[in-house]
Amino acid sequence: MSPAISPIQPTSRPPLEGKTVILGVTGSIAAYKAADVASKLVQAGAIVDVVMTTAATEFVGSSTFEALTHRPVTTGLWEAHSELSIDHVALALRADCVLIAPATANTLAKLALGIADDPLTATVLATESPVIVAPAMDADMFASAPAQRNVTTLKDDGVVVAGPADGRLASGLVGKGRLVDTETLVGLVRKSIGQHGDYAGRHVIVSAGGTRQPIDPVRFISNRSTGKMGYAIAEAARDRGATVTLVTAASITPPAGVKVVHVETVDDMRDVIIPSSSEADLLVMAAAISDFTPAQVSDHKIKKQGSSGMSLEMAKVEDFMPLAHGRKLVKIAFAAETNDLEANARAKAAPKGAAFVVANNVSEPGSGFGTDTNKVTFVDAGGTTEPQPLMGKLDVAHAILDRALPHLAGR
Ligand SMILES: Cc1cc2nc3c(=O)[nH]c(=O)nc-3n(C[C@H](O)[C@H](O)[C@H](O)COP(=O)(O)O)c2cc1C
Repeated sequence: MSPAISPIQPTSRPPLEGKTVILGVTGSIAAYKAADVASKLVQAGAIVDVVMTTAATEFVGSSTFEALTHRPVTTGLWEAHSELSIDHVALALRADCVLIAPATANTLAKLALGIADDPLTATVLATESPVIVAPAMDADMFASAPAQRNVTTLKDDGVVVAGPADGRLASGLVGKGRLVDTETLVGLVRKSIGQHGDYAGRHVIVSAGGTRQPIDPVRFISNRSTGKMGYAIAEAARDRGATVTLVTAASITPPAGVKVVHVETVDDMRDVIIPSSSEADLLVMAAAISDFTPAQVSDHKIKKQGSSGMSLEMAKVEDFMPLAHGRKLVKIAFAAETNDLEANARAKAAPKGAAFVVANNVSEPGSGFGTDTNKVTFVDAGGTTEPQPLMGKLDVAHAILDRALPHLAGR
């Protein structure tokens, strides 16, 4: 039997490949969730060194983290795994990011004061890498004056404070004290590590999802777009240092560390994108904007009883992309086509004022709506076409950002 060959070319590079994350785990009941965080960081390609406080080891064993990370776990100041024999300095030096999840009230207080009496707080004091803390505790503990004061101090010191989230707490009470979810934490690590990337200082606006045009208060007409491609572009731009605004009509969970504006209709999307484009560097219109909208919107539910059927008159929607202008704005359009891909895409470039169009044949296998892969062709108004191989959507997103970069230079 011949070996299975992946159809995805080139192979996706894990987003944290080659990066070292120090994962601090402290003595919160949420410490068990840190095992999932460690696992997801490893899956994202990171080298993960776990540092546990003594209290954390009361909740989870260090062997859990050793098994997940394939690395020794540091639990005391006086044990030495490192080449320097001073673990906290060695960890601090090789860190690309320190993430403390969960972070107890006690550890937040120590960090705010610069106390360094355990390997975790000593590592934070010694590192120049970005530090993220994810508090998890009883809601009243978090709301207390000292905890709030410490959070403010840490933010002033440049520490990213993630959460806590609202919800049910271990005590059974409901409030603001839950550890934020793993995906958010991994997203914030990626953002922190990428903050000085080739999109640093750039503002990127990405539209995503399929707009919904109302028929009546309970019905709408839309399309098959899920938003995955636009979300991948937002993620990739974030990972390369951009400030990202994601204007989305999709219902999937947005990436962490980007500004998200939820919209529903074409009008909503236009009303957000046009004013914000004036100061943006890049606008990527990955949303599937409705081409037609019901000519009349009923203000009450259209009833089935007494009717033999209904016909819907549709009006054409004016494309708002030509109206997006800015001193330094570069625009990239998308063309989802089922036939005459390149000719249709080329015809769209000039009227939209796009530097290039990302054309994809949505009827091809592995391409278009809902898939995790895409096969696109970059087409510009001048007639240049650059077909891309079938790739994961995050790889397509990076290819789009690579292609856009020369257009941004000097603006
Ligand atoms: C069962 C139990 C659950 C605890 N959960 C939390 C918690 O979720 N958040 C918190 O800040 N402290 C919590 N604590 C208190 C901390 O474990 C305690 O303040 C400890 O000194 C923290 O040490 P560390 O910051 O070095 O890990 C809990 C204590 C116990 C006994």
